[in-house]
Amino acid sequence: MNSIELEQASAFEVYPKRDLCIVSGKGAEVTDSNGNTYIDCVAGIGVANVGHANPSIVNAVATQAKTLITCPGIFYNDIRGQCMRRLIDIAPEGMSKAFLCNSGTEAMEAALKFARISTGKNEFISAMRGFHGRSMGALSATFKYRQEFEPLIPGHHFVPFNNIEKLTAAITDQTAAVVIELIQGEGGVRPASREYAKQVRELCDAKNVLLIVDEVQTGFARTGSMFASQHYGICPDIMALSKAIAGGVPMGAVLCTDNVEAVIGKHGSTFGGNPLASAACIANIDYIVENNLTEAATSKGARFVQRFTANQPALVREIRQTGLMIGIELKIKSKPVLEALMERGILALPAGPTVVRLLPPLIISEDALDTVCDTLLEVLNQ
Ligand SMILES: Cc1ncc(COP(=O)(O)O)c(C=O)c1O
Repeated sequence: MNSIELEQASAFEVYPKRDLCIVSGKGAEVTDSNGNTYIDCVAGIGVANVGHANPSIVNAVATQAKTLITCPGIFYNDIRGQCMRRLIDIAPEGMSKAFLCNSGTEAMEAALKFARISTGKNEFISAMRGFHGRSMGALSATFKYRQEFEPLIPGHHFVPFNNIEKLTAAITDQTAAVVIELIQGEGGVRPASREYAKQVRELCDAKNVLLIVDEVQTGFARTGSMFASQHYGICPDIMALSKAIAGGVPMGAVLCTDNVEAVIGKHGSTFGGNPLASAACIANIDYIVENNLTEAATSKGARFVQRFTANQPALVREIRQTGLMIGIELKIKSKPVLEALMERGILALPAGPTVVRLLPPLIISEDALDTVCDTLLEVLNQ
């Protein structure tokens, strides 16, 4: 059996798979089991912002693994404390507390629970096309993927994105929080308007409702700011983080302002805040800051769009880009385009049926990014 057959025979499959077995990665490239290399604009679905096998992460994990791998939340731990401090330091001003977990859906799950317990209210309003994860709480706030799992948690309502009137009308005296992504990732790389983001913050303040911003995909310099909230100039009450938080090591986090009360004894996670992930997270943040990856995302994103739009193919409806979070809306289905890119050595993602999404590592070279751009133009123009 080859590696693909082995996985096929053993997996309780939940993903539609591409016929590719990735065995190693370095920087912005991955290599398959046949020795072919690819420019990786999937990056673990927005995880490998600092690149694959980044030596800073490798060293931090190796050193920590020899010291202490696990330490439950019932004890204090030196590295965990440093990690939480570092997360708060880079977060929008006003964030004062951190809870650590292991994934994006867990971060959202915790965010929703913290909002309920802190406000004593049990309703949430999220955006149509929003994606917040697949566990039952996070799924209740997610627009798609829910039908087969209903009934979900009651009290979750959906309003159109970028429409402040509809959001205002949906708030009741039972609304605990408004839940949004500032740039909807899975929903098609759709940004909130600056005005909308500001109005949502003001509305939540006026109505005494918490604002949960899901930065699982937008975090850690992806959009050209450390967090999209900073790009929009707002401070959420609760922020959910994961994906690129720890250089590829599984981790999630919730950051809160003082508006959110601690919940001792009512939530927890065995692995949350384990020293291995915490050490990777610290090294990851240091690397992003020292190498100015916010600026890299801004300039490389702009470079891509300039090159692409100079020759924009007729099949393109719109390009939506913030930093290195790029969505190209097509007039055709994206799947065949993704397949053609893969044949030419480039891995990219969909975001809905007609959008090609590019989330390359922020350390990608300009040459490699130009290759991605030129290859995509070639595929769309043929
Ligand atoms: C915005 C957003 N929130 C939550 C999640 C869920 O994260 P995870 O897959 O780590 O549970 C995702 C995953 O794509 C996401 O993009």
